[in-house]
Amino acid sequence: MTDTPAMSAADEAARRDEALSSACVDEYLHEPEVGPLAGAAPLGHPCVAQPEQWWPNPGEDPVASFGGVSVSYRATPAVDDVSFPVPRGSIVALIGPSGSGKSTLLRCLNRMNDLVPGCRVEGDVRYRGIDLYAPEVDPVAVRTRIGLVFQRPNPFPKSIYDNVAFGPRTHGFHGDLDDIVERALRRAALWDEVKTRLGERALALSGGQQQRLVIARALAVEPDILLMDEPASALDPISTSRIEDLMRELTPDVTIVIVTHNLQQAARVADLTAFLTSEPHGDGSLVGRLVEFGTTEQIFANPADERTAAYVSGRFG
Ligand SMILES: Nc1ncnc2c1ncn2[C@@H]1O[C@H](COP(=O)(O)OP(=O)(O)OP(=O)(O)O)[C@@H](O)[C@H]1O
Ligand SMILES: [Mg+2]
Repeated sequence: MTDTPAMSAADEAARRDEALSSACVDEYLHEPEVGPLAGAAPLGHPCVAQPEQWWPNPGEDPVASFGGVSVSYRATPAVDDVSFPVPRGSIVALIGPSGSGKSTLLRCLNRMNDLVPGCRVEGDVRYRGIDLYAPEVDPVAVRTRIGLVFQRPNPFPKSIYDNVAFGPRTHGFHGDLDDIVERALRRAALWDEVKTRLGERALALSGGQQQRLVIARALAVEPDILLMDEPASALDPISTSRIEDLMRELTPDVTIVIVTHNLQQAARVADLTAFLTSEPHGDGSLVGRLVEFGTTEQIFANPADERTAAYVSGRFG
C-alpha cells in the first residue's frame, strides 16, 4: 500500500520534529555551559518590548513580542509579516490549520529554528527588551530562559532524578539539589507518582508522565517562558487535563505559549489566542499569516474576521 500525499506530509513533519527534538537533547547534553542572557531586562522588572505595539492594553508588559516576523525555509516563505505580543504571565494559544506556521513561529521565540538547516528569520522577535536575533545573543542561553516542550516527550536516557537535576547541575548550582528536583517535580504535578522511584529510567515512564517530566526538567532551571507545541496531542484525556491544570498553575510565574489543534483546549486554557492561516503568496504558493489576535473569549465568541469565524466554528481547516 502506498502512502497518501497527506500521510507523507504528516510523516515528513513528524520526522522533522523528531530531528529537532534530538538536536535539542544533543545540544542540552553537550553544550551545557551557558552564560547569562546579556542585556535582557531582569526578571521582575518591567519589560520594554515594543510598547507601542502592545495590544490589547497599551502600557502593560509584554515579556516577548513578534514584530513583522517572516520566516522561510531554504528561501521558501513559511510565515509572512506576523506581529503580536506575548503578555507576561499569560497563556497565549496559537491555532490554525496544518502548515499555517504555528510551530515555525513558536520556535522563533527560543531560537530553536537555528537548529533547522536553511531556516531564516526576519523581523523583530523580542524578549525582555532585547532583539533575540541580535548577533551578541547566545541562543543556548535563550533556550535556558525560554524552554520548548515538544509534542513527543524527549526525556534524556537517564534516571528520572538526573533528568530534572541536569540543568541545575550544569549551571553550577551548589544548593540542595534534592530540594530543586522535588520542587520541580511537584510543580509539574509528577512528584507523587515518582517519589519512590527517582532512580529509575525516565524512558520507563508513561507518555503522560514523560511529558510532565520534561516540563519538570524545564522548570528546574526556572524558565521565564515555556513554549509548548501540541504538548497533549499524544496523551489520553486524564493526562491532557493534568497538563492543562499544570499550565494554569504555572502562570503567572511562567508565561506560556502553546500550539494546539484542539480548539476546546485553547478555549479552556488560553488568555489570548492568535489565529493563523495559510494563504497564497506572490507565486501562488501558500504562506502562513496571522489573521487575528485577541482575547480567547473574543476570538471564539466574537471573531472580527470571517476566516476566524469559519475556523473556530469548524467550517474550515
Ligand atoms: N524543517 C523544515 N524544512 C522545510 N520546510 C519546513 C520545515 N518546517 C516547516 N516547514 C514548512 O513551513 C510551513 C509551516 O510549517 P509549520 O510546521 O510551522 O506549520 P504548523 O502550523 O505547525 O503545522 P502543523 O499544524 O501541521 O504542525 C509548512 O509549509 C512546512 O512545510
Ligand atoms: Mg506544528
